[in-house]
Amino acid sequence: MTHANLPQQPTFAEIAPRLETPAMKARVADLIRRYPSPQAALLQVLWLAQHELQWLPQAAIEWSAHQCKTSPVHAYGVATFYTMYQKAPVGKFLLQICQNVTCHALGSENLIAHAEKTLGIPADGAHVSADGLFTLLRVECLGACGNGPVMQVNDDFATDVVDGVVTMPKSISLTTERFDKIVAWCRANKEKGLVRDPLGGTLAGDLGHPGAEGASAQKQNSDYAPPPPALAVKAIAGTGVALTWKAAPEITELRIEHSSTESGPWAPLATCSPKDKEFAHATGIAGDCYRIVAVSGARVAKPSQIAKAGV
Ligand code: FES
Repeated sequence: MTHANLPQQPTFAEIAPRLETPAMKARVADLIRRYPSPQAALLQVLWLAQHELQWLPQAAIEWSAHQCKTSPVHAYGVATFYTMYQKAPVGKFLLQICQNVTCHALGSENLIAHAEKTLGIPADGAHVSADGLFTLLRVECLGACGNGPVMQVNDDFATDVVDGVVTMPKSISLTTERFDKIVAWCRANKEKGLVRDPLGGTLAGDLGHPGAEGASAQKQNSDYAPPPPALAVKAIAGTGVALTWKAAPEITELRIEHSSTESGPWAPLATCSPKDKEFAHATGIAGDCYRIVAVSGARVAKPSQIAKAGV
C-alpha cells in the first residue's frame, strides 16, 4: 500500500480507550518481560493491538513502538513488511490467496483473478467488498504447498467446504468452484463467522493433525525439542559473585548450579524465575564455577557453558 492510498486514519485519542486499558497494559508488560529487550516483543505487541482494533491504524503502530521502546519508523517498517498486519480495515472474512512459487505454478493467478472479479475488489488487502464481508489479499507461501493453490480465511486454511465446514482436506487444492463454495458458506454464515478450531486450524480432518481421528502424527512429548540453554553466562567476582545470563522467552525456570572446579561435581545453588537476569552469590569467590540449567515446563535444556568467576 502506498502512502497515497492509506485509509482514513483514526487519531490516537480515538483508539486510546481500546489500547490504554489496565488489561492491555498488563498483557503488554507480560509480553515484554518474555524477551531480552522490549523491542523484541514488537511483533507480539503489534499483533495484540491489531487483535483489539481488528486492524492496525498508524496511531496503533506508533503506540506499539512506544510500548516496545523503539522508533515509530522501525515499527512501521515491520508492520508493512508482514502481510499478517492489516493496514486498512478488513471485512469479516479476510481471504488470503498464496501467490508464491508452487501455488503460482498450479494456477493461483487465475484464482486471484476469479476472486477479484467475483468479489469486485482488488487483492491488495485495502478494500472491503460492497456487502462488508470480504477483503482479498495476495500473500506469500502459506506453508501448505502440498495443497496448492491454497487460501487462508482469517486464521485458517480453506480449500473446500465439507459437511458444512470450511476446511482444507488432504491434497485438496483451491479451485474456482471451491472458492465459490467457500464464499457462499461465508455469506450463509456471516452472523456466526468462522469459528476457529481450538486445535489450531481447519486441518482437523487431515491425518497429519495430531487431533484428528486415526491421525498418524503424535502430540508432542515433553522431551521433544528441548528448550535452548541459557546463553552469555558471566560470573564476576567482587563482593561475592555476580552472575548474569540471557534466556529464551519460553523458559519457565532457571536452576543455577555451583562447583569449585570446572569438572564438578555440581551442586544446586538457587532457582530463578524467567524474569530474573542476574543472581548474586554472596559467598562466591574468584575461581568459583557456575552453570545454569534452563527449564521450560517439563522440558529441560542441556546445561549452559560453564562461567568461571573472574574479577
Ligand atoms: S507456495 Fe503456496 S503455500 Fe507454499
